[in-house]
Amino acid sequence: MDVVGYAPLYEVMQDTPLAPWADVLPGQIQQAFGNRPHGDLPKWREVVKALVPPFPAGECILDAPCVGVPPVGAGDGQRAHIEQALRRLHPWRKGPYCLQGVHIDTEWRSDWKWNRLQAHIEPLTGRRVLDVGCGNGYHCWRMAGEGARLVIGVDPGQLYVMQYWAVRQFMPGPPVYVVPLTGEQVPGLAAFDTVFSMGVLYHRRRPLEHLRVLHTHLRPGGELVLETLVIEGGQGDLLKPAGRYARMRNVWSIPSPPTLVAWIEAAGFCDVQLRDVTVTTPREQRRTDWMRFHSLPEFLDPDDPTRTVEGYPAPIRAICTAKKSLSVS
Ligand SMILES: C[S@@+](CC[C@H](N)C(=O)[O-])C[C@H]1O[C@@H](n2cnc3c(N)ncnc32)[C@H](O)[C@@H]1O
Repeated sequence: MDVVGYAPLYEVMQDTPLAPWADVLPGQIQQAFGNRPHGDLPKWREVVKALVPPFPAGECILDAPCVGVPPVGAGDGQRAHIEQALRRLHPWRKGPYCLQGVHIDTEWRSDWKWNRLQAHIEPLTGRRVLDVGCGNGYHCWRMAGEGARLVIGVDPGQLYVMQYWAVRQFMPGPPVYVVPLTGEQVPGLAAFDTVFSMGVLYHRRRPLEHLRVLHTHLRPGGELVLETLVIEGGQGDLLKPAGRYARMRNVWSIPSPPTLVAWIEAAGFCDVQLRDVTVTTPREQRRTDWMRFHSLPEFLDPDDPTRTVEGYPAPIRAICTAKKSLSVS
């Protein structure tokens, strides 16, 4: 059997409002992996295959900062084999993960973002959740840890999807799936109770269009959780970086919090609430042994860490929640 097997997902989508998507999803995945495969995809598949553990799946830890499984079952030799395989999926950006005693110290302390939003969102128990731009799915596991009945993450990054599959080898049970698609490829079926979009909005050339697409994924009364870069400022203020921002390509627009709230309202959401605004520090985003490229410390002006190397305001991130009105279908 292929190590990347979505059949259980198609099955759980049947008899739900997601059934029409289940009809086209196999073709979409085939197209993503089959027609436009990343050059390293065969290597990544081998890594995932090599990780099929020779011990039964045990307890999953989904409600703690380090997501994973405890170090039971694997001896020292197996642990070394696991670590060697996981390292071949470098760079690991989102995490951390603890898998059979192997601690993947990722570039981001993604658990900090989770801590900032957790108290502000509708409880996820029993909810059907979509995470647009989920990376390798770290937050998807945390959503399952909060009791979500189904979590589907979408991300076009094939390495991130294969990192998800590597983690999945250790945790085959939870209802968490990451598929190699963009948010725009998900049909708007108004089928999700909660939709997350975190770290994606500034990568979209047309941010309002992204928000409108998210609106189509939510059922009436459902909740949007949106996280993005912001600048300090008032209504209407917006930074449109010329060229790179903190060395990132494709950062198109960074609104002030009031501008962001206005955008979310303009996309049709109600009850928009700004929940958190936090400066990103080099403790949250940094180079590690599992992500050996440059990271935030190298993206900030060494003489003035309140500016990026390009002279823009240093990264600040905001979290908003919003609702889809009950009277909208
Ligand atoms: C900064 S990361 C954020 C990952 C994660 N959501 C988090 O908050 O830590 C942005 C992710 O969005 C993905 N992405 C970019 N454009 C996208 C799109 N149109 N639809 C879905 N994901 C997208 C990228 O591949 C990347 O993994």
